[in-house]
Amino acid sequence: MINIIKVNNEQQFNETGAGIIASLLQSKPRAILGLATGSTPVGVYGKLIELYLEGVVSFKQASSYNLDEYIGLPANHPESYRQFMNDKLFNHIDILLENTHVPSGNAVDPDKAAADYSELLENAGQIDLQLLGLGHNGHIGFNEPSDELQGPPHIVTLDERTRQANARFFKSIDEVPTHAITMGIGSILHAKQILLMAKGADKAEIVAQALKGPITTQCPASFLQTHPNVVVLLDQAAGRLV
Ligand code: GLP
Repeated sequence: MINIIKVNNEQQFNETGAGIIASLLQSKPRAILGLATGSTPVGVYGKLIELYLEGVVSFKQASSYNLDEYIGLPANHPESYRQFMNDKLFNHIDILLENTHVPSGNAVDPDKAAADYSELLENAGQIDLQLLGLGHNGHIGFNEPSDELQGPPHIVTLDERTRQANARFFKSIDEVPTHAITMGIGSILHAKQILLMAKGADKAEIVAQALKGPITTQCPASFLQTHPNVVVLLDQAAGRLV
């Protein structure tokens, strides 16, 4: 079941996204959150920080599992997803850092790091709410279009398009990692509820393909159509074709 919410501006986008997460935490303080990086959720995280500072929401008993992490960047590299999460959210709220989890992208043995993350997720139980952004090629996490998709966390080779899209955060394209560890499609679909977020006219086509097109490994986000509880938060531009 896909429930589409279209909002009119950035403020509504952030308030709506943060509102969904805050309501969960209010009804279930020990909620397990699946978190996402990318530019789309940044404002939502900003709004969550505000709600925390206003005393509306607490993360003290919550835990979190991030979707993905680049391989080969030190954890404190400004563009590592661990650093991103610390900067954009964790350092500003009362979540206990030891309850936040991001795959370890700088492990000596990345295959083992992916297997360890898989085990960690299995032991955690079901994620209550999984946040997702959407890549221009239909990727979720770093599950890139391919002839086949994998269920559990695994290592991926990043698409050239993905590296180019993310090059804006690095000094040059050469610095963008070529590989990442990502939750698999199975890990994502295992969540109780999923919140997919997309903004901007450049996402309109892929949003339509993901939500209304055929379910195909060439558009990994199309598998969300098989999940019983998906909320899709869009601005008018991204939602133009759905
Ligand atoms: C990145 C991330 C995804 C993210 C997507 C879209 O590469 N791995 O998790 O959802 O690309 O990013 P943005 O929100 O910046 O458009």
